[in-house]
Amino acid sequence: MKTMTDKLELQEQLAEWRSADEHIAIVPTMGNLHAGHISLVEAAREHAERVVVTVFVNPTQFGEGEDFDSYPRTLEKDTRRLRKSSADVLFVPSVETMYPFGVENATRVVVPGLTENLCGASRPGHFDGVTTVVARLFALVQPDVALFGQKDYQQQLVIRRMVEDLNLPITILTVPTVREADGLAMSSRNAYLDDAERQAAPALHECLRGIEAQLQGGARDFRALERSATESLAGAGFDPEYVAVRSAEDLGEPGDNCSRFVVLGAGRLGQARLIDNLLVDA
Ligand code: PAF
Repeated sequence: MKTMTDKLELQEQLAEWRSADEHIAIVPTMGNLHAGHISLVEAAREHAERVVVTVFVNPTQFGEGEDFDSYPRTLEKDTRRLRKSSADVLFVPSVETMYPFGVENATRVVVPGLTENLCGASRPGHFDGVTTVVARLFALVQPDVALFGQKDYQQQLVIRRMVEDLNLPITILTVPTVREADGLAMSSRNAYLDDAERQAAPALHECLRGIEAQLQGGARDFRALERSATESLAGAGFDPEYVAVRSAEDLGEPGDNCSRFVVLGAGRLGQARLIDNLLVDA
């Protein structure tokens, strides 16, 4: 695996692969890689001969007072991990490479609507930063396929919408969430949890599982389900942001005929903001 920071070097490599008719997959990350990221890389290899992993802690998707400065940057460890994976190139651009006219003057890509509720309501501007950087990575790499984790359910829907709306010739694949043995979704931010918080953290997944069971049992009073799960989360020590039962297709309120739900939750536990979701066919 080659590590590159220079976009011209990356583009030379990409051109060589393309001239050999090889397909290219991209796995965008912010680093501090865990087994969830590696599952994206291995899934990428099943869809393309070449896999580019990017590590870039993107300043434009962090709001005021969020954890941009303290976000774990673990490039050496990430590189060692990726060497044992199917990645061909690790691309680690600088802020100047990603935003040549500066962050303030950057051309922005915004997906309205879908970005305004759930995590978008708790983190205004967050998804604008995500689509802005992902569009730039797509423009640089011009991949055939791009992989994102289901844990960030709203993010992958927003990116799918952007790709469809801009007619980008890229297939978006969503890879199931990888969990710890006790159900906690793997996340770079789990590193912020102290021992007691780590013990409490699986409550988020448990609350979502509770709603899943009730939906499968025929319950359809979504507000009541959300309310009681939010109370359980608070009881487990979370400062809940939201628990929501939505249509898996577009995150809208589920209509009478909805049979594919997504149950999403977000909350703070100490320094960590945790999110999770489950797809439910009911
Ligand atoms: O999911 C993430 O790690 C980030 O939001 C992404 C997609 C790499 C964009 O910075």
